[in-house]
Amino acid sequence: MMMKRTYIKDIKDKIGEEIKIAGWVDVRRDHGKLIFIDLRDMSGKIQTVALPNHKEARDAASKLRSEWVVEIVGKVNKRPEKMVNKDEVNGNVELEIMKVKILNEAVTPVFGINDDGREVNEETRLANRYLDLRRGRMQKNLRMRHEVMKFIRNYLSDNNFTEIETPLLTKSTPEGARDFVVPSRLYNGKFYALPQSPQQYKQLLMAGGMEKYFQIAKCLRDEDTRGDRQPEFTQLDLEMSFADQKDVMGLTEEMFIKAVKELYPQKKIQQIPFPIITYKEAMEKYDSDKPDLREDKNNPDLLAFCWVIDFPFFEKTEKGGWTFTHNPFSAPKPEYVEMLMRKEKIGEILTTQYDIALNGFEAGGGSVRNHKTEALQKVFEIMGFEKEKIWRDFGHMLRAFSSGAPPHGGIALGLDRVMMILQNEPNIREVIAFPKTGDARDPMMDSPSEISEEQIAELGIQIKKSANKSKI
Ligand code: AMO
Repeated sequence: MMMKRTYIKDIKDKIGEEIKIAGWVDVRRDHGKLIFIDLRDMSGKIQTVALPNHKEARDAASKLRSEWVVEIVGKVNKRPEKMVNKDEVNGNVELEIMKVKILNEAVTPVFGINDDGREVNEETRLANRYLDLRRGRMQKNLRMRHEVMKFIRNYLSDNNFTEIETPLLTKSTPEGARDFVVPSRLYNGKFYALPQSPQQYKQLLMAGGMEKYFQIAKCLRDEDTRGDRQPEFTQLDLEMSFADQKDVMGLTEEMFIKAVKELYPQKKIQQIPFPIITYKEAMEKYDSDKPDLREDKNNPDLLAFCWVIDFPFFEKTEKGGWTFTHNPFSAPKPEYVEMLMRKEKIGEILTTQYDIALNGFEAGGGSVRNHKTEALQKVFEIMGFEKEKIWRDFGHMLRAFSSGAPPHGGIALGLDRVMMILQNEPNIREVIAFPKTGDARDPMMDSPSEISEEQIAELGIQIKKSANKSKI
């Protein structure tokens, strides 16, 4: 009879039984008579031992090397009292090897994976990410990321939100960063843009009567990479109809508080309800619009959330015109609507924008939207757009709003940043399975890379010779 595989975490409950486990050789220690193999699977580690009386198994065990993939059948024994390791999950048991089956061999790993890998060159880690992901720290980061996403999905579903996917092939949008563009084969000379966020689609979903939307959404921005910034990142994006600033902020705050309580009980939120400060106050007092309010910055388990509100809607451009500070689709605060409609004292107009800062990072931001066609048109006029351009670029939004769009508002949280802080990591690359390097490359896949002459011809584009020169 085929024996069912036991996960390593469950071994401690099977003392005296014969079981089968499968996984990777973490370390092999050859003590002559005895050979110890620490085996690792996704659930934990166990010490296995090959004794001289099982000759065949012992010979097989002597061949094993780090990172080989094996299946071991063995008997679960209690460790002698003085060999018990109380700090390990399976510290009180050991598996006596009866049979070893090698499922795959492995070349000698380019770096050690049974430490946290902080000393290893990052380029090498990313070039061998499949190996790097085996280390305990990375396994934990990705599993906790999953737990947080699962919590969010459940929390929002329980609050009557619907998760809806929006397109990745879309149209260039004015969100402040540079777009990644995709040349069209069917319409040579035309381009799709990859979304900087689902902003316009989520508002169109509100016009579409969905009322409560969320999405764990990939966003793409062609901007310089930093520790807390990737060209491709993930937002928890949501939007609600018939909701005001308080509703969105309240929902977000409750979600954070509950998630921390359930998934990170060791962490303390410094202040509940989260403090709310104005942009002006934040700049005057902390010289930052994402102040780090932690009372003790050495405590890795302290979370200081803070809302920042009352941002100016517009700021001056280098050329002397106006542009939006956050989002052109935001509504001004109600007391400034008149000023917007008359295009007066533009620099003084405040927006309904709210940002959420966490330990000095911008963890998210959102606003109540401008759901009236005329008001949105005014925003674009202030930015100096001609009527024709407004209709060409945003006609779909204006038409949607004039077809009975409900008042609505929302927020997007930077999931990678939130995970970085919750997992006490120094940058977001540590909580993303396959991030790009600081200079936007994937050294494992070797991307970006050239495409074939045929592909280029089909797309109706031409590569300038100089463009092929790498910047690095
Ligand atoms: P915003 O542009 O502020 O808002 O983005 C929301 C949050 O996403 C995170 N973030 C990033 N994380 C990693 N790498 C990046 N390059 C990056 N850029 C942004 C930040 C940020 O606070 N559509 C609006 C939201 C809304 O109004 O509902 C938006 O995208 O944590």
